[in-house]
Amino acid sequence: MAARKTRPYVAVTRRLPAPVEARMGELFDVRLNPDDHRMDRDELIRLMQQSDVIVPSLSEKIDAEMLDQAGGRLKLIANYGAGVDHIAVAAARKRGIMVSNTPGVLTEDTADMALALIIAVTRRLAEGVAVMQAGDWEGWSPTAFLGGRLGGRKLGIVGMGRIGRAIARRARAFGMEVHYHNRTRLRRETEVELGAKYWDSLNQMLARMDIVSVNVAHTPATFHLLSAQRLKLMKPSAVVINTSRGEVIDENALTRMLRAGEIAGAGLDVYEQGHEANPRLRNLPNVMLLPHMGSATVEGRIEMGEKVILNVQTFADGHRPPDLVLPGMM
Ligand code: DGY
Repeated sequence: MAARKTRPYVAVTRRLPAPVEARMGELFDVRLNPDDHRMDRDELIRLMQQSDVIVPSLSEKIDAEMLDQAGGRLKLIANYGAGVDHIAVAAARKRGIMVSNTPGVLTEDTADMALALIIAVTRRLAEGVAVMQAGDWEGWSPTAFLGGRLGGRKLGIVGMGRIGRAIARRARAFGMEVHYHNRTRLRRETEVELGAKYWDSLNQMLARMDIVSVNVAHTPATFHLLSAQRLKLMKPSAVVINTSRGEVIDENALTRMLRAGEIAGAGLDVYEQGHEANPRLRNLPNVMLLPHMGSATVEGRIEMGEKVILNVQTFADGHRPPDLVLPGMM
Protein backbone atom coordinates (compact mmCIF):
# COMPACT_ATOMS: atom_id res chain seq x y z
CA MET A 1 0.00 0.00 0.00
CA ALA A 2 1.38 3.44 -0.93
CA ALA A 3 2.34 5.55 2.08
CA ARG A 4 -0.17 8.31 2.74
CA LYS A 5 1.43 11.68 2.23
CA THR A 6 1.26 13.96 5.26
CA ARG A 7 -1.00 16.94 4.78
CA PRO A 8 0.67 20.29 5.43
CA TYR A 9 -0.70 22.46 8.21
CA VAL A 10 -1.88 25.61 6.42
CA ALA A 11 -2.96 28.77 8.24
CA VAL A 12 -5.09 31.28 6.35
CA THR A 13 -5.12 34.82 7.75
CA ARG A 14 -8.35 36.19 6.22
CA ARG A 15 -11.67 34.82 5.04
CA LEU A 16 -11.44 33.55 1.48
CA PRO A 17 -14.32 32.74 -0.89
CA ALA A 18 -16.26 29.72 0.38
CA PRO A 19 -15.33 27.31 -2.47
CA VAL A 20 -11.65 28.11 -1.88
CA GLU A 21 -11.86 27.46 1.85
CA ALA A 22 -13.82 24.25 1.21
CA ARG A 23 -11.22 22.92 -1.25
CA MET A 24 -8.39 23.82 1.10
CA GLY A 25 -10.17 21.89 3.83
CA GLU A 26 -10.29 18.82 1.58
CA LEU A 27 -6.61 18.99 0.71
CA PHE A 28 -4.81 20.36 3.76
CA ASP A 29 -5.02 20.55 7.52
CA VAL A 30 -6.28 24.06 7.38
CA ARG A 31 -6.80 26.70 10.01
CA LEU A 32 -9.18 29.42 8.82
CA ASN A 33 -10.16 32.80 10.21
CA PRO A 34 -13.97 32.50 10.27
CA ASP A 35 -14.64 35.96 11.78
CA ASP A 36 -12.13 37.58 9.38
CA HIS A 37 -10.50 39.61 12.15
CA ARG A 38 -7.30 41.49 11.36
CA MET A 39 -4.47 39.63 13.06
CA ASP A 40 -1.82 41.56 14.97
CA ARG A 41 1.91 40.79 14.85
CA ASP A 42 1.81 38.45 17.81
CA GLU A 43 -1.00 36.36 16.41
CA LEU A 44 0.74 36.16 13.03
CA ILE A 45 4.03 35.12 14.65
CA ARG A 46 2.23 32.41 16.63
CA LEU A 47 0.56 31.15 13.45
CA MET A 48 3.88 31.05 11.61
CA GLN A 49 5.43 29.07 14.45
CA GLN A 50 2.66 26.48 14.27
CA SER A 51 2.30 26.12 10.49
CA ASP A 52 4.07 24.61 7.49
CA VAL A 53 2.41 27.15 5.24
CA ILE A 54 0.83 30.51 5.93
CA VAL A 55 -1.55 32.13 3.46
CA PRO A 56 -1.53 35.86 4.14
CA SER A 57 -3.07 38.65 2.10
CA LEU A 58 -1.90 42.19 1.56
CA SER A 59 -3.51 43.27 4.82
CA GLU A 60 -0.84 41.38 6.81
CA LYS A 61 2.67 42.76 6.88
CA ILE A 62 5.29 40.06 7.40
CA ASP A 63 8.62 41.72 8.11
CA ALA A 64 12.10 40.34 8.79
CA GLU A 65 11.74 40.72 12.55
CA MET A 66 8.60 38.58 12.53
CA LEU A 67 10.33 35.97 10.38
CA ASP A 68 13.17 35.87 12.96
CA GLN A 69 10.60 34.71 15.48
CA ALA A 70 8.77 32.32 13.15
CA GLY A 71 10.71 29.23 14.28
CA GLY A 72 11.78 26.38 12.00
CA ARG A 73 8.49 24.89 10.87
CA LEU A 74 7.28 27.45 8.35
CA LYS A 75 8.39 26.59 4.81
CA LEU A 76 6.06 28.52 2.50
CA ILE A 77 4.30 31.89 2.53
CA ALA A 78 1.65 31.38 -0.16
CA ASN A 79 0.38 34.93 -0.57
CA TYR A 80 -3.25 35.40 -1.58
CA GLY A 81 -2.54 38.22 -4.02
CA ALA A 82 -0.09 39.31 -6.68
CA GLY A 83 1.76 42.12 -4.87
CA VAL A 84 4.24 40.96 -2.24
CA ASP A 85 5.49 44.33 -0.99
CA HIS A 86 4.08 43.53 2.47
CA ILE A 87 6.37 40.49 2.78
CA ALA A 88 10.12 40.59 3.46
CA VAL A 89 10.88 38.26 0.55
CA ALA A 90 14.69 38.41 0.82
CA ALA A 91 14.60 37.78 4.57
CA ALA A 92 12.28 34.81 4.02
CA ARG A 93 14.60 33.33 1.43
CA LYS A 94 17.58 33.67 3.77
CA ARG A 95 15.66 31.60 6.29
CA GLY A 96 14.77 28.97 3.67
CA ILE A 97 11.11 30.04 3.49
CA MET A 98 9.62 30.21 0.01
CA VAL A 99 7.19 32.94 -1.03
CA SER A 100 4.60 32.49 -3.79
CA ASN A 101 1.90 34.81 -5.18
CA THR A 102 -1.07 34.75 -7.57
CA PRO A 103 -0.09 36.56 -10.78
CA GLY A 104 -2.17 36.70 -13.93
CA VAL A 105 -5.64 36.06 -12.58
CA LEU A 106 -6.33 39.66 -11.55
CA THR A 107 -5.10 41.30 -14.73
CA GLU A 108 -8.38 41.79 -16.57
CA ASP A 109 -10.38 42.81 -13.50
CA THR A 110 -7.80 45.39 -12.45
CA ALA A 111 -7.62 46.75 -16.00
CA ASP A 112 -11.42 47.06 -16.03
CA MET A 113 -11.23 49.09 -12.85
CA ALA A 114 -8.52 51.37 -14.23
CA LEU A 115 -10.77 52.08 -17.23
CA ALA A 116 -13.74 52.61 -14.92
CA LEU A 117 -11.72 55.25 -13.05
CA ILE A 118 -10.51 56.86 -16.27
CA ILE A 119 -14.08 57.19 -17.48
CA ALA A 120 -15.45 58.22 -14.08
CA VAL A 121 -12.96 61.04 -13.62
CA THR A 122 -12.89 62.40 -17.17
CA ARG A 123 -16.70 62.26 -17.44
CA ARG A 124 -17.34 63.54 -13.88
CA LEU A 125 -19.46 60.57 -12.82
CA ALA A 126 -19.01 61.21 -9.08
CA GLU A 127 -20.46 64.71 -9.42
CA GLY A 128 -23.43 63.40 -11.39
CA VAL A 129 -24.13 60.66 -8.85
CA ALA A 130 -23.85 63.11 -5.95
CA VAL A 131 -26.37 65.50 -7.50
CA MET A 132 -28.84 62.69 -8.15
CA GLN A 133 -28.42 61.19 -4.68
CA ALA A 134 -29.02 64.61 -3.11
CA GLY A 135 -32.13 65.12 -5.26
CA ASP A 136 -30.59 68.38 -6.55
CA TRP A 137 -30.81 67.86 -10.31
CA GLU A 138 -32.57 70.73 -11.99
CA GLY A 139 -32.83 69.15 -15.42
CA TRP A 140 -30.71 68.94 -18.56
CA SER A 141 -28.53 71.88 -19.45
CA PRO A 142 -26.22 72.42 -22.44
CA THR A 143 -23.36 73.39 -20.17
CA ALA A 144 -23.78 71.19 -17.10
CA PHE A 145 -21.34 68.39 -16.12
CA LEU A 146 -19.12 68.83 -19.14
CA GLY A 147 -16.26 66.40 -19.05
CA GLY A 148 -13.68 65.42 -21.63
CA ARG A 149 -14.00 63.05 -24.58
CA LEU A 150 -11.89 59.92 -24.18
CA GLY A 151 -11.33 59.47 -27.92
CA GLY A 152 -8.06 61.12 -28.94
CA ARG A 153 -6.82 61.61 -25.37
CA LYS A 154 -3.23 60.61 -24.65
CA LEU A 155 -2.97 57.86 -22.06
CA GLY A 156 0.47 57.34 -20.50
CA ILE A 157 0.86 53.93 -18.89
CA VAL A 158 3.62 53.77 -16.28
CA GLY A 159 4.56 50.08 -16.09
CA MET A 160 3.67 47.92 -19.08
CA GLY A 161 3.36 44.52 -17.42
CA ARG A 162 0.28 42.32 -17.76
CA ILE A 163 -2.09 44.91 -16.30
CA GLY A 164 -0.57 47.82 -18.23
CA ARG A 165 -1.02 45.89 -21.47
CA ALA A 166 -4.62 44.96 -20.61
CA ILE A 167 -5.32 48.66 -20.00
CA ALA A 168 -3.70 49.55 -23.33
CA ARG A 169 -6.04 47.15 -25.19
CA ARG A 170 -9.09 48.67 -23.56
CA ALA A 171 -7.87 52.24 -24.10
CA ARG A 172 -7.40 51.59 -27.80
CA ALA A 173 -10.99 50.39 -28.05
CA PHE A 174 -12.03 53.77 -26.64
CA GLY A 175 -9.98 55.57 -29.29
CA MET A 176 -7.27 56.78 -26.93
CA GLU A 177 -3.63 57.26 -27.95
CA VAL A 178 -1.54 54.80 -25.95
CA HIS A 179 1.91 55.75 -24.65
CA TYR A 180 4.01 53.87 -22.14
CA HIS A 181 7.11 53.93 -20.00
CA ASN A 182 8.61 50.68 -18.74
CA ARG A 183 11.92 49.37 -17.40
CA THR A 184 12.32 47.44 -20.62
CA ARG A 185 10.84 48.21 -23.99
CA LEU A 186 8.23 45.77 -25.34
CA ARG A 187 8.88 43.74 -28.46
CA ARG A 188 8.12 45.61 -31.67
CA GLU A 189 5.18 43.23 -32.52
CA THR A 190 3.60 43.86 -29.11
CA GLU A 191 3.96 47.62 -29.52
CA VAL A 192 2.28 47.36 -32.91
CA GLU A 193 -0.48 45.11 -31.57
CA LEU A 194 -1.18 47.56 -28.73
CA GLY A 195 -0.59 50.66 -30.85
CA ALA A 196 1.64 51.85 -28.01
CA LYS A 197 4.43 54.42 -28.24
CA TYR A 198 7.42 53.86 -25.96
CA TRP A 199 8.98 56.67 -23.92
CA ASP A 200 12.42 55.99 -22.53
CA SER A 201 12.09 59.14 -20.42
CA LEU A 202 9.27 59.00 -17.87
CA ASN A 203 9.58 62.76 -17.35
CA GLN A 204 9.07 63.53 -21.00
CA MET A 205 6.09 61.23 -21.22
CA LEU A 206 4.43 62.68 -18.11
CA ALA A 207 4.71 66.21 -19.48
CA ARG A 208 2.69 65.30 -22.57
CA MET A 209 -0.10 63.03 -21.29
CA ASP A 210 -3.79 63.78 -20.64
CA ILE A 211 -4.19 60.74 -18.40
CA VAL A 212 -1.48 58.84 -16.53
CA SER A 213 -2.19 55.32 -15.26
CA VAL A 214 0.20 53.88 -12.68
CA ASN A 215 0.73 50.12 -12.98
CA VAL A 216 4.07 49.26 -11.42
CA ALA A 217 4.66 47.11 -8.35
CA HIS A 218 5.80 48.87 -5.20
CA THR A 219 9.51 48.22 -4.65
CA PRO A 220 12.28 50.40 -3.20
CA ALA A 221 12.95 51.53 -6.80
CA THR A 222 9.35 52.63 -7.45
CA PHE A 223 8.63 54.32 -4.10
CA HIS A 224 7.41 57.84 -5.00
CA LEU A 225 8.20 57.24 -8.66
CA LEU A 226 5.60 59.94 -9.20
CA SER A 227 7.33 62.38 -6.87
CA ALA A 228 6.25 65.98 -6.31
CA GLN A 229 8.83 67.02 -8.90
CA ARG A 230 7.47 64.61 -11.50
CA LEU A 231 3.84 65.44 -10.77
CA LYS A 232 4.74 69.09 -11.43
CA LEU A 233 5.76 68.14 -14.96
CA MET A 234 2.20 67.09 -15.77
CA LYS A 235 -0.28 69.33 -17.58
CA PRO A 236 -2.76 71.07 -15.25
CA SER A 237 -5.52 69.46 -17.32
CA ALA A 238 -4.15 65.95 -16.70
CA VAL A 239 -5.67 63.15 -14.65
CA VAL A 240 -3.82 60.53 -12.54
CA ILE A 241 -5.14 56.99 -12.10
CA ASN A 242 -3.61 54.52 -9.63
CA THR A 243 -4.73 50.90 -9.29
CA SER A 244 -1.34 49.46 -8.27
CA ARG A 245 0.10 50.61 -4.93
CA GLY A 246 -0.29 53.95 -3.16
CA GLU A 247 3.41 54.22 -2.32
CA VAL A 248 4.28 54.74 -5.99
CA ILE A 249 2.82 58.27 -5.85
CA ASP A 250 3.71 61.00 -3.36
CA GLU A 251 0.13 61.20 -2.09
CA ASN A 252 0.61 64.42 -0.12
CA ALA A 253 2.06 66.19 -3.14
CA LEU A 254 -0.76 64.88 -5.34
CA THR A 255 -3.34 66.04 -2.80
CA ARG A 256 -1.84 69.54 -2.66
CA MET A 257 -1.78 69.78 -6.44
CA LEU A 258 -5.35 68.54 -6.86
CA ARG A 259 -6.55 71.07 -4.31
CA ALA A 260 -4.60 73.85 -6.02
CA GLY A 261 -5.93 72.90 -9.46
CA GLU A 262 -2.43 72.04 -10.69
CA ILE A 263 -3.66 68.57 -11.68
CA ALA A 264 -7.21 68.27 -12.96
CA GLY A 265 -8.34 65.01 -11.37
CA ALA A 266 -7.47 61.65 -9.91
CA GLY A 267 -8.96 58.18 -9.67
CA LEU A 268 -7.37 56.23 -6.84
CA ASP A 269 -7.94 52.66 -5.70
CA VAL A 270 -4.85 52.51 -3.45
CA TYR A 271 -3.22 54.78 -0.87
CA GLU A 272 0.18 55.39 0.59
CA GLN A 273 -0.89 54.51 4.14
CA GLY A 274 -2.80 51.30 3.37
CA HIS A 275 -6.47 51.94 3.97
CA GLU A 276 -5.97 55.51 5.25
CA ALA A 277 -6.48 57.81 2.29
CA ASN A 278 -5.28 61.36 2.91
CA PRO A 279 -8.42 62.99 4.43
CA ARG A 280 -7.80 66.09 2.31
CA LEU A 281 -8.54 63.98 -0.77
CA ARG A 282 -12.09 63.35 0.39
CA ASN A 283 -14.94 65.44 -0.96
CA LEU A 284 -12.90 66.83 -3.84
CA PRO A 285 -15.24 66.87 -6.83
CA ASN A 286 -12.42 65.98 -9.23
CA VAL A 287 -11.31 62.91 -7.30
CA MET A 288 -12.79 59.42 -7.17
CA LEU A 289 -11.59 57.26 -4.31
CA LEU A 290 -12.20 53.52 -4.16
CA PRO A 291 -11.39 51.04 -1.37
CA HIS A 292 -8.78 48.91 -3.19
CA MET A 293 -11.36 46.95 -5.16
CA GLY A 294 -9.52 46.57 -8.49
CA SER A 295 -9.43 42.79 -8.27
CA ALA A 296 -12.70 42.43 -6.38
CA THR A 297 -14.70 40.11 -8.62
CA VAL A 298 -16.12 36.79 -7.47
CA GLU A 299 -14.41 35.04 -10.35
CA GLY A 300 -11.05 36.68 -9.75
CA ARG A 301 -11.00 36.01 -6.04
CA ILE A 302 -11.81 32.33 -6.63
CA GLU A 303 -9.06 32.09 -9.24
CA MET A 304 -6.64 33.69 -6.78
CA GLY A 305 -7.60 30.97 -4.30
CA GLU A 306 -7.07 28.28 -6.92
CA LYS A 307 -3.57 29.64 -7.54
CA VAL A 308 -2.81 29.55 -3.82
CA ILE A 309 -4.01 25.95 -3.64
CA LEU A 310 -1.84 24.97 -6.60
CA ASN A 311 1.20 26.61 -5.02
CA VAL A 312 0.61 24.88 -1.68
CA GLN A 313 -0.16 21.50 -3.24
CA THR A 314 2.93 21.64 -5.45
CA PHE A 315 5.03 22.49 -2.41
CA ALA A 316 3.40 19.65 -0.44
CA ASP A 317 4.28 17.26 -3.27
CA GLY A 318 7.91 18.24 -2.85
CA HIS A 319 8.23 20.58 -5.85
CA ARG A 320 8.86 24.27 -6.38
CA PRO A 321 5.57 26.24 -6.33
CA PRO A 322 4.80 27.51 -9.85
CA ASP A 323 4.43 31.12 -8.69
CA LEU A 324 7.58 31.30 -6.60
CA VAL A 325 8.67 34.90 -5.98
CA LEU A 326 12.40 35.58 -5.78
CA PRO A 327 13.93 38.64 -4.14
CA GLY A 328 14.15 41.57 -6.55
CA MET A 329 11.77 39.92 -9.02
CA MET A 330 8.89 42.37 -8.59
C1 DGY B 1 -2.86 42.22 -5.30
O1 DGY B 1 -3.15 41.04 -5.41
O2 DGY B 1 -1.73 42.58 -5.02
C2 DGY B 1 -3.92 43.21 -5.57
O3 DGY B 1 -3.50 44.49 -5.28
C3 DGY B 1 -5.18 42.87 -4.83
O4 DGY B 1 -6.19 43.64 -5.41
